Amino acid sequence: MKLKFINNNMNIKYISNLINVNETGKNHVFIIDSKVKKLYEKLFQMIKDQTRIFIYNANEDTKNIDYLKRIYKFLHTNKVHRNSIICVIGGGVTTDIAAYAASTYKRGCRLVLIPTTLLGMVDAAIGGKTGFNFEHIKNGIGSFYPAEEVIISSDFLKTLPTKEYKDGITEIIKMSFLQQSNLQNLLTEDYNMEGVIKEAIRTKLELCEHDLYDKGSRRLLNLGHTFGHVLESISNYEISHGTAVAVGIRAAAIFSLKRGFINQEILEMIIKRLEKFALPVSFNSKYLPEIMRNGESILKQDKKADDKLNLVLFKGLQKLFIYRTDELNEIISLFQEVSDD
Ligand SMILES: NC(=O)c1ccc[n+]([C@@H]2O[C@H](COP(=O)([O-])OP(=O)(O)OC[C@H]3O[C@@H](n4cnc5c(N)ncnc54)[C@H](O)[C@@H]3O)[C@@H](O)[C@H]2O)c1
Repeated sequence: MKLKFINNNMNIKYISNLINVNETGKNHVFIIDSKVKKLYEKLFQMIKDQTRIFIYNANEDTKNIDYLKRIYKFLHTNKVHRNSIICVIGGGVTTDIAAYAASTYKRGCRLVLIPTTLLGMVDAAIGGKTGFNFEHIKNGIGSFYPAEEVIISSDFLKTLPTKEYKDGITEIIKMSFLQQSNLQNLLTEDYNMEGVIKEAIRTKLELCEHDLYDKGSRRLLNLGHTFGHVLESISNYEISHGTAVAVGIRAAAIFSLKRGFINQEILEMIIKRLEKFALPVSFNSKYLPEIMRNGESILKQDKKADDKLNLVLFKGLQKLFIYRTDELNEIISLFQEVSDD
């Protein structure tokens, strides 16, 4: 995968030169998040043949098989073939579903991703996971299909709403706990966002390089996500992904303390790092009764074939490991400790 950073000018000229949509017979196309298309209208007007743009209304409800079908139809109408480039511009929802389409249409087309959210830049567009939601299961269907090129232009972040920005920061802080990462040294008071994005991408790529198919070290990136998944599901996604993961990281740290893997001092350092970036460390206790009722059944969906849960825990401030467990009851009871009650 080629990685390109476009500094301080959102250079659609570069993008349209890269993919000369007028090249006869190449049949390159764009799939663009509708909000991004609107916000950067002038930019995208530079794409000469506007019929080669699929405008996608990105959200979890449209990340589904019906929209995938619409994308396939668009690719078919535009006579896209294996040597055509599908250039995807948007957040993680857009890059996930469009990359899945690219990985399957004609058994795989060329794929270029231009992520426009922070989470997309440091996480979703990196590492080759694609997918869409199926039968209420998030990313229930997917593939592994790394893009041939990912282009990062941090200028897109200027229009990103705070909530989406925080979701990205949470994933960056999560990565800062990985042994492979130098993020903790870069995340100073006046940190440089470009440098942080570069290091987050480097960290993720290092993990994926050794484990593209998510069977080993890559699973450490799930820190906070098992607990977070329960919070998102129980609240019907009222609790944002960022909040759910941040609270999940704290829950994982408390569980690590209870099992004797870390001491109180390390626990406090973990929480301090979350708080330094104003990440929430507790959730509204109104969701507790529902967690007590249905939390276990949600956790069971995350269990692997051998009936155990892979929980990412701390062995140190900068040392994560996979703890295989079936102590679902105890995991659920931890939620009481991280609610705002
Ligand atoms: N493939 C992976 O490895 C991977 C990893 C993490 C997350 N994901 C997936 O990523 C998705 C979440 O991604 P996301 O947080 O980017 O959400 P998203 O794609 O829904 O984008 C969030 C919102 O921001 C808007 N937006 C995008 N770019 C913008 C910009 N520059 N300015 C203003 N608004 C903009 C979008 O229209 C949307 O409303 C989830 O579906 C998750 O499953 C995938």
